[in-house]
Amino acid sequence: MTDPREAFEQYIAELFTEEDEALKTIYASPEKHDMPMISIRPYEGSLLQWLIRLIGAKTIVEIGTLAGYSTVWMARALPQDGKLYAVEKSSKHAAVARENFSLAGVSNRVELLEGSSRDLLPKLAQKGPFDFVFIDADKTSYPYYLEWAVDNLRTGGLVVAHNAYRHGGIINPQNDDDRAMDTFNRALAAHPKLDSMIIPLGDAMAVGVRRA
Ligand code: DHB
Ligand code: MG
Repeated sequence: MTDPREAFEQYIAELFTEEDEALKTIYASPEKHDMPMISIRPYEGSLLQWLIRLIGAKTIVEIGTLAGYSTVWMARALPQDGKLYAVEKSSKHAAVARENFSLAGVSNRVELLEGSSRDLLPKLAQKGPFDFVFIDADKTSYPYYLEWAVDNLRTGGLVVAHNAYRHGGIINPQNDDDRAMDTFNRALAAHPKLDSMIIPLGDAMAVGVRRA
């Protein structure tokens, strides 16, 4: 029997997810540029939009932009005066993302920050506190990103992390990335400043709400 989750996810995508031509082109762009094909799935983009609108987020930080597919989903959920700070380590990926922001018409709401998150995040803190922090970068740094997010979110703000399941790797860890994700999920669940849960859609989103 095929995994029933696939049928459910197809069902969710059919009901809740609509991609325009720009999003379809951007989803295909990593392959064209010899980049890893690890963007979020379209229905995970819908989930991010829903979470952003749920809390009326106006400021977002994305850690790990890749070709900007998730960035475009999130930027489009912002009001006109909203702002998304997108952090990307690879200058090659950042160049593709910049083109994609223009294609999707979100360049005015997105500020792309190129370089190491360890250098950029401490400086970016001056622009906070933020409403929403999305983590989708190197897994071994997730615990560090979590602490940065907790320190820089407003009360009621969300920290959201992609790949909470690591495609099963959290149950029987095979490598440092799997172990780091398990460490992250446990830190999120036990964090005294967060109310947390894992939403098991796609590769799962771990979500923490910043307590007062
Ligand atoms: C993989 C998937 C991701 O979404 C990610 O952020 C990193 C790696 C993967 O499948 O290898
Ligand atoms: Mg991911």
